[in-house]
Amino acid sequence: MWWRGTGDIVMAQNAFIALLRERRSIRLFTKETIPVESIKSIIEAALRAPSARGLNPWEFILVDDPELIIKLSEVKPYGSGFLKTAPLAIVVCADSVKADFWIEDCSIAATLIQLAASCEGLGSCWVQIRNRMHDNEKSAEMYLQELLGLPEHMKVALIVGIGYPGEEKPLIPVETLQYEKIKYNRLK
Ligand SMILES: Cc1cc2nc3c(=O)[nH]c(=O)nc-3n(C[C@H](O)[C@H](O)[C@H](O)COP(=O)(O)O)c2cc1C
Repeated sequence: MWWRGTGDIVMAQNAFIALLRERRSIRLFTKETIPVESIKSIIEAALRAPSARGLNPWEFILVDDPELIIKLSEVKPYGSGFLKTAPLAIVVCADSVKADFWIEDCSIAATLIQLAASCEGLGSCWVQIRNRMHDNEKSAEMYLQELLGLPEHMKVALIVGIGYPGEEKPLIPVETLQYEKIKYNRLK
């Protein structure tokens, strides 16, 4: 690879681990507007996500309309309320007819969105939609399909809420990571 062995990539590797160390799920945001350049970086990260066979079955719906964001925050009885303080929410959905690996592809893209957001000094948090209910009758996905005009074959994996952090989260020390979960060659 053309970049292997250069000082730049060593720097970038360190920066990447630093980024991972600093990322925590943020569920409270300030009212500060997200700069257009930051949104562009986040979009680029999403669109660069690896996808099986390069099929890119995903679609990303950027929601910044405050009234719609409130509606998004009501998608589930639990775990989505925090979205109401987010200036931006990205609904990650995909054409399930195009690809049976849409869940994997959406999850990878969402991870990159969260890391790109961290890189921009923004906080973010994932809201699970797939297999979750809005209420006793309606799935969270159906609620969003109606709200956002999505056809039935467009499956909704998740929403990422994004904004400048309005809360501080402690960093997780490297010594507390679950290294016992790492095995070599065999599980036992
Ligand atoms: C698949 C997945 C689903 C999640 N769903 C939700 C959710 O619905 N609501 C929420 O507040 N956080 C959700 N989270 C965020 C996790 O709760 C969070 O990542 C976890 O507690 C670890 O904290 P950290 O991200 O600060 O390291 C989800 C995360 C993942 C990966």
